[in-house]
Amino acid sequence: MRKSIGSGTLSIVQGDITRQQTDAIVNAANSSLLGGGGVDGAIHRAGGPEILKECEQIAAEIGRLDAGGAVITTGGRLAALYVIHAVGPIWRGGNQGERETLASAYRESLMRAVEKGLGSVSFPSISTGAYRFPVDEAAGIALGAVRDFMKGNAGLKLVEFVLFDAATLQAHEQALGQIEP
Ligand code: APR
Repeated sequence: MRKSIGSGTLSIVQGDITRQQTDAIVNAANSSLLGGGGVDGAIHRAGGPEILKECEQIAAEIGRLDAGGAVITTGGRLAALYVIHAVGPIWRGGNQGERETLASAYRESLMRAVEKGLGSVSFPSISTGAYRFPVDEAAGIALGAVRDFMKGNAGLKLVEFVLFDAATLQAHEQALGQIEP
């Protein structure tokens, strides 16, 4: 499913983000930046040790990456040139600013891509796995944040959401249907 936004395209696909050919793929990381399970584990496994080495260097410089933030490293052995490590919020019931923090994780990820002059970025569904953010609500927040960013950044030609399971795919397709281009 695709929609034109400004001079770019927002696309929703089902698949394994480690196989995407976009300039960068986004990792749903944690504040330590030192790897984990889920998509974090998949990306480090597929991309190899260079990614973790750069994450360790960044962690040594900044300590922990707060939720809502994003940093960029090499893509290692991945087809993508870069991995953008974003930390989403842990869902704690919705009264701790989780929604704004999730939007920030998407915005900051796109900021890192624009700073590198990248034209295409793939996102997983940040925070809706181990971090338990309700997926229907997360999809609306994510697509709205990406739509707003794309309207102000003509250099971004393709932003795709690569969803692993059918329910998450459906939630994002539903949300895309409600997005005004
Ligand atoms: N490609 C695309 N999406 C994937 C893949 C993959 N290869 N593997 C998992 N996913 C999906 C999950 O199905 C879920 O929909 O990514 C989404 C995010 O789930 P998590 O990876 O659990 O991420 P998150 O909820 O943000 O939790 C982050 O989990 O792995 C740890 O180190 C990570 O502590 C951090 C926490």
